[in-house]
Amino acid sequence: MPTTDTTPCAAAVRALFQQRYGREPDAIASAPGRVNLIGEHTDYNGGEVLPIGIERRTWVAAGVRRDGAGKLRAVSANEPGIGEASLVTPTRGEQWWDYLVGVAAPIASDALGSALARAGLDAAVMSDVPTAAGLSSSAAIEVATALAVATALGRTIEPREVAMIGWRAETGVVGVASGILDQFASALAREGEALHLDCATTETELVPFRDTVLIIDSAVRRSLRDSAFNTRQAECEEALRLLRERWPDLPNLAAATPEQVLEAKLPDPLDRRALHVSRETRRVQQAVALLRAGKPLTGELLLGSHESLRDLYECSRPELDWLVERSMQAPGVRGARLTGAGWGGCMIVVGDEAALANAAPGIGRDYERKFGLTPRVWLSKAAAGARIESV
Ligand code: GLA
Repeated sequence: MPTTDTTPCAAAVRALFQQRYGREPDAIASAPGRVNLIGEHTDYNGGEVLPIGIERRTWVAAGVRRDGAGKLRAVSANEPGIGEASLVTPTRGEQWWDYLVGVAAPIASDALGSALARAGLDAAVMSDVPTAAGLSSSAAIEVATALAVATALGRTIEPREVAMIGWRAETGVVGVASGILDQFASALAREGEALHLDCATTETELVPFRDTVLIIDSAVRRSLRDSAFNTRQAECEEALRLLRERWPDLPNLAAATPEQVLEAKLPDPLDRRALHVSRETRRVQQAVALLRAGKPLTGELLLGSHESLRDLYECSRPELDWLVERSMQAPGVRGARLTGAGWGGCMIVVGDEAALANAAPGIGRDYERKFGLTPRVWLSKAAAGARIESV
């Protein structure tokens, strides 16, 4: 894992740690939120995704306590309250520190074994990743915590392991059977590059991505737990089961070709869900080919993805559809689509950097007038993934 110079935020999270616990942390790590350029709802279907890290991060300072009685204490600059929870028998407390416990407990129990019952961990958190907006604030906190805690315990940890520990905590703590997109993006992203991830094999490839992306948060809040996310996943499983009656060797849903899906004549809506997954993973391959060749992402790919999410996967919302259409009217914009799970949250717009900056205020104003919601808007380039900050 790369180590970098102390940033102002690393200094601030360290000050928070010192103030709360009266000593220096043993390690500080940070990890970014993410946007997915293309490849939505493909990860838990064994397909491909193409995220970037964004210029919004979460910083975690961690320290080991000899007399910690097997507990984690946590304080956050963003959340009220001081968390305290068992690392020996971690349970879900419906609290913001659940994420920290979820990743810290397995790492601490590996490193300390039975000594964990006496020892403990302290953590301090600071973040500028917006929450509940579909930018993977939870992956950022999981990944930064895993890296900070492992480092504090003197363990070297690979980015992939960090991602998997984060993913296990997420699925265990939050109760949403999401895929590995978010944690891999946060752990393995690189500045100036997009991360091409094959979710069936976890093979990764970095492809150059120097463009600026305009991110617009629709301000339509959704929680994955309350959304139809788990329903979609069950539909995909059922579609795969039916396809395997015909093609028993099909490794996953994303591997089915669009022709196979059409030929199988699955009942509605399973046919549409499967067609989305199949075509979307092929759109990722086309996007990767463009970026590898140093070409920009095309509007056709991004809009094709959005329309498929809207009509076949049915995870868009009128607000997101409107934002996509309105963005496409702005000069210099090449493409737009919802990003993340959908049902609210964010969309992205790509095009010339100056055009995006010019377009943003007008899109925001018109959106507010139309829906009475105040969108949040950011410009971001592809940012670095998880890193150890020097203490
Ligand atoms: C959420 C999940 C991811 C992925 C996306 C949709 O962000 O956490 O694993 O499934 O939705 O692409």
